[in-house]
Amino acid sequence: MSANNRILSGMRPSGRLHLGHYHGVLKNWAALQHEYDCYFSVVDWHALTTLYDNPSQIQQSSWEMVIDWLAAGINPGSATLFIQSHVIEHAELHLLLSMMTPLGWLERVPTYKEQQEKLKEKDLQTYGFLGYPLLQAADILIYRAGQVPVGADQVPHIEMSREIARRFNFLYGREANFEELAEQAVKKLGKKNAKLYRSLRKAFQEAGDDEAVAKAHALLSSHASISHGDRERLIGYLEGTGKQILPEPQALLTPHSKMPGLDGQKMSKSYNNTISLREKPQDVEKKIRTMPTDPARVRLTDPGDPEKCPVWQLHQVYSNDEVKNWVKKGCTSAGIGCIECKQPVIDGICKELAPIQERAKSYEEQPEVVKNIIQEGGDKARTAARETMEEVREAMGLNYR
Ligand code: TRP
Ligand code: SF4
Repeated sequence: MSANNRILSGMRPSGRLHLGHYHGVLKNWAALQHEYDCYFSVVDWHALTTLYDNPSQIQQSSWEMVIDWLAAGINPGSATLFIQSHVIEHAELHLLLSMMTPLGWLERVPTYKEQQEKLKEKDLQTYGFLGYPLLQAADILIYRAGQVPVGADQVPHIEMSREIARRFNFLYGREANFEELAEQAVKKLGKKNAKLYRSLRKAFQEAGDDEAVAKAHALLSSHASISHGDRERLIGYLEGTGKQILPEPQALLTPHSKMPGLDGQKMSKSYNNTISLREKPQDVEKKIRTMPTDPARVRLTDPGDPEKCPVWQLHQVYSNDEVKNWVKKGCTSAGIGCIECKQPVIDGICKELAPIQERAKSYEEQPEVVKNIIQEGGDKARTAARETMEEVREAMGLNYR
């Protein structure tokens, strides 16, 4: 548990986003941005790990994706939006971490073999692809993010990021005069806070009181005047380790979204079953109208079973109880037709998309506004990343000239 309020997450640029992204990720990000110091990154270098043979589409996909983030309600006034390759410090941290990363850790990450299997037509026997989760660890650790909102599939990557942070702190957090420096840092907290810190440290070290750790973290993060270095010493001193240069991040599991695709499978570009956020209302209508239904309902007079129909799953997302009861009754008694049944879903989707599309349109018309947002976000991210890198270099003895 950490009082660290910073969040980082990333998405590979895959072009225009669809309702699956909206319900599965973006709504969650939009909620988090009000509670946390959020950094959201277009991870274009990660896209390169599988698109190295045809990187030309990455640019366009990145801009399209940023427009969709903004349209979906990610607010550049609340969150920091940036493109990974604009903050080259990620590459430096990735390289330095690669020196101390055991190969086995990378080879045993489940996505490594899985993705190679899944993308069989691609040659993914590359150095970059093996290093994918390490680059992700660098993305997270360079901002010292406390939490990382991700889906369940990404949890092993966050686990590995934690292990990397721990190993880094173990290898490079052991200053020769650590205790002395830590004691000096305690004094800098001021009499009252120093006393509180000492009692919390005692509570943890003598009785393993986790709450004391959380309280001490909160104390340190609210104490604005102490330096980064001293804060890391005080955290390490508290927990009985060395200096904690790179804090260990936690996965913040995204609530499971039940957004199905047009065929009832998970909505995904690779299944060709999506409705994009910028889908025109007439195309939404066309796509829903041609959706498969319960195969037993051949004629209007054949009763159906909503449980066997992908349209029913969409009603779970878009319809209230009244409409759902109407569907259940009408379907099983052959009282309504499928076209009739689909109308509230069409209306629901169009209503949800209308404000998103209005915002998207305004950003499409002003690409310079989008570029400015990304430039500002990049500047802010770079400042944070550079601070971390100063300390990383110092810890590794690389700050000599
Ligand atoms: N690997 C993530 C995915 O495929 C994308 C990603 C890259 C990421 N860097 C990140 C996610 C940092 C969270 C934090 O979805
Ligand atoms: Fe599906 Fe509705 Fe048709 Fe029943 S009436 S089969 S729930 S579309």
